[in-house]
Amino acid sequence: MIRKKVKEVFLSGTGITREFGHGETKIIAVNNVDFEFHRGEIISIVGESGSGKTTLAKMILGLLSLTRGEIEFEGKPRDIATQAKRRQYWQNIQAIFQDPFSTFNIFNKVDSVLFDCIRLQGQEHLSNAEKFEKMKESCSFVNLKFEELSNKYPFELSGGQMQRLMIARIFMLKPKLLIADEPTSMIDACSRATILDMLLKLRDEIDMTIVFITHDIGLAYYISDTVYIMEHGIVVERGTADEAILHPKSDYTKRLLGDVPKIYEPWDFTKDMV
Ligand SMILES: Nc1ncnc2c1ncn2[C@@H]1O[C@H](COP(=O)(O)OP(=O)(O)OP(=O)(O)O)[C@@H](O)[C@H]1O
Ligand SMILES: [Mg+2]
Repeated sequence: MIRKKVKEVFLSGTGITREFGHGETKIIAVNNVDFEFHRGEIISIVGESGSGKTTLAKMILGLLSLTRGEIEFEGKPRDIATQAKRRQYWQNIQAIFQDPFSTFNIFNKVDSVLFDCIRLQGQEHLSNAEKFEKMKESCSFVNLKFEELSNKYPFELSGGQMQRLMIARIFMLKPKLLIADEPTSMIDACSRATILDMLLKLRDEIDMTIVFITHDIGLAYYISDTVYIMEHGIVVERGTADEAILHPKSDYTKRLLGDVPKIYEPWDFTKDMV
């Protein structure tokens, strides 16, 4: 099992709320959510479509304003009021979105995508040979061949290659928090396991905190230290993976689990399939 001891809280939120629209059309996409993320912790946020997962992620990333609530970063109220402060915050926090195309500027070739990471890390002073070495190393971490890809545009890559490129970026940027919003949706189960493995290896190497946003409660159980379950913008269940999934308190979690074959029991192959 992947679970390991987690460390201090470095990002937390209290009463996080986001509304869209006004009057009769108003919806509360995220409703009074509290969270605490620790260094090196793996968190899953699980919920059906429209439950507010991506909206919550965007608020954590500072891409969407909060209607109400407070976010604390490293023990102090988060301040992203100016562009310079936002940039500084984004040095610590990165995301992989459902649609990898949205991550890259389509006019930048693969080498400039990676080169940009060197710039963001303030490592422009390195020699060209050192820069290439870093870019190559990040590609080989995700089993991509830098020489074959460097001259291509992101839209010339396959979905799987593009997702690997996203992880190569994360490898170079080494953020403290990675939010992965259904990162494996575009690829087959085998590559999916590889990508998860890569992310978990990164967690171990750089003590990164990872938030997985997923519909897949079985995956959440398998990979997470902590699970948050969301329904209509509300966190209805929160606890260790064992607490939240093996001993759920909310009816919603029980219903979600009802849809999943018994994830925590060994398969009994002696029984006939129905
Ligand atoms: N920019 C927006 N303007 C208006 N409503 C929005 C906006 N973004 C999200 N919503 C609404 O907020 C609710 C939550 O959406 P969100 O994208 O957070 O769900 P989700 O849990 O990520 O769903 P999925 O699993 O399908 O990705 C939905 O009802 C959605 O229609
Ligand atoms: Mg979403």
